[in-house]
Amino acid sequence: MLIKSRKSWDITENQATPEHLFLNRRGLLGAGAAFLGASALPQFALAAEEDITTSLYPAKRNDAYTLDRPLTPEAANASYNNFYEYSTDKRLNADKLMTRPWMVKVDGMVEAAKDYGIDDLIKSMPLEERLYRHRCVEGWSMTIPWTGFPLKALVAAAKPTSGAKYVRFETFNNPKMAPGQKSPVYPWPYIEAVTIEEAMNDLAFVVTGAYGHTLAKVHGAPLRLALPWKYGFKSIKSIVKISFVDKRPVSLWESLQASEYGFWANVNPDVPHPRWSQATETPVGSNDRRPTLLFNGYGEQVASLYKNIDKSENLYR
Ligand code: MTE
Repeated sequence: MLIKSRKSWDITENQATPEHLFLNRRGLLGAGAAFLGASALPQFALAAEEDITTSLYPAKRNDAYTLDRPLTPEAANASYNNFYEYSTDKRLNADKLMTRPWMVKVDGMVEAAKDYGIDDLIKSMPLEERLYRHRCVEGWSMTIPWTGFPLKALVAAAKPTSGAKYVRFETFNNPKMAPGQKSPVYPWPYIEAVTIEEAMNDLAFVVTGAYGHTLAKVHGAPLRLALPWKYGFKSIKSIVKISFVDKRPVSLWESLQASEYGFWANVNPDVPHPRWSQATETPVGSNDRRPTLLFNGYGEQVASLYKNIDKSENLYR
């Protein structure tokens, strides 16, 4: 049996500096890639993009989530993306995205506001793999093996107060790291929001990986949402802030064009978007056109969320 004798310079895990304090110290040195931009970083900090969570993948698959069609091949998925911070082209390059160090602020109407270092957050959550459908309002779809944790685990950790009605998500805002954010056309940062009830639904998933490994930059590393019953624009990428609020937030897309990108954005084949019919979809990597399903096929899990909502609210856009 190996017996390890402790040396005077060895420290126990609970004596180690928590990730957020370590990163704050770096912040004083002028680092903090997610907030300041890669060009502001000294070289030693650039080298620190190392991701210590890689060994957590692949996570165990949760077999409760099954698909009705084959998985989208990873190469096809990684070369057909929407990430307007980088480009409005589908074949985009997000290499400039610096995912370490990365902080996620949880704040607002909660008992337990907290600044999480991304690795501490990922290590503290129950990771699992889920096979999800993903439907964009532009009429294409994918099927993806995401890894992550239920959003409701993060809501529980934050302990929202009774006045909190919505959860608001915000992406980084750093034109040095994301050239698309130099465009004045979009009111950066990217914002999205759901109701607390939607956030507590089993399907609402915080994504940290895909295809059995950590999340690719084009997919919104290091942390994004997957809300598979809603159009893809609700699934915000590269999150830095999660706020619990009492007023309904206005998303980036809603502020630009509310008639096309409403708050609810639930997939519905019967309600056309002004520019795209929603009756059918093309799975990326195929030439098929297949029927789109109400709530993207997840009605059993989510339809009850909407039964008491005023139908004058357009739930589907
Ligand atoms: N999140 C941010 N921050 N920026 C974006 O441009 N695009 C949205 C959503 N999340 C977007 C975003 C849209 S329109 C879609 S369809 C999905 O991300 C695309 O996710 P994918 O590239 O992984 O398929």
